Formats: sequence, structure tokens, C-alpha cells
Amino acid sequence: MNRLTAFVAAAAILFFLSMGGMSIQAGTEDEGPRILNLRCTQCHDLRRVENANKNRHQWENTVDRMRLIGSRISPDEKAVLIDYLVR
Ligand code: HEC
Repeated sequence: MNRLTAFVAAAAILFFLSMGGMSIQAGTEDEGPRILNLRCTQCHDLRRVENANKNRHQWENTVDRMRLIGSRISPDEKAVLIDYLVR
């Protein structure tokens, strides 16, 4: 293996490693939309959610109200969802 080949191989390995890291991050970022589609679309479409411009506190109240009405969102899912909604 000459030096150029070694360099290209190392660069390829680094590239794949960084791709792997990125896809793990993308996985957690996708949780927000997944939870939204799973827990918040049974009773109304997502336009209500998309049109709402709420801060964290207001979302806490809204999601708590949706739970009282019947959304089966768990506390963990609620935390992830609100992080996503206030971004
Ligand atoms: C069991 C049915 C049901 C589910 C599930 C549900 N909602 Fe609702 N949602 C309603 C009803 C009924 C209203 C209108 C009455 C009201 O506002 O209380 C509403 C209204 C809303 C509104 C507009 C009113 C406001 O306060 O801004 C938003 C935003 C909203 N929902 C978000 C959500 C989110 C986010 C979820 C998922 C965590 C969700 N909903 C899940 C029944 C539901």
C-alpha cells in the first residue's frame, strides 16, 4: 500500500465513522415528529400544532390538557416532544 492509498483508506474510514455518528443524532432528532404523529393525530390534524406559537410553559399546559382529553403520550415522550416543539 503506498501512502496515497493509505491516506484514501483512512479518509474513507473517517468518513464512514462520521456518517455513523450523524445518523445516530438524526435518529434522536426524528423522535419528535414520530411522537407527534403517533400521539397527536387521532383527534385533529397537525395544523393545530403547526399553527400554534407557544413557549415551553404553554406547550406543557397544552400537552397536559391533551393527556386529560385522551392522548396516550408518556412523560418521557412529552419531554422529547416539547423539546421538539419549542425548537
Ligand atoms: C383525545 C383527542 C386528542 C388528542 C390525542 C390530542 N388532542 Fe389536541 N385537541 C383536542 C381537542 C378536542 C382540541 C380542541 C379543544 C381544546 O382546545 O381543548 C384540541 C386542541 C389542540 C390545540 C389547539 C388549542 C391550543 O391550546 O392551542 C393544540 C395546539 C393541540 N390540540 C395539540 C395537541 C398535541 C401536541 C397533541 C399530542 C400530544 C394532541 N393535541 C393530541 C383533542 C386531542
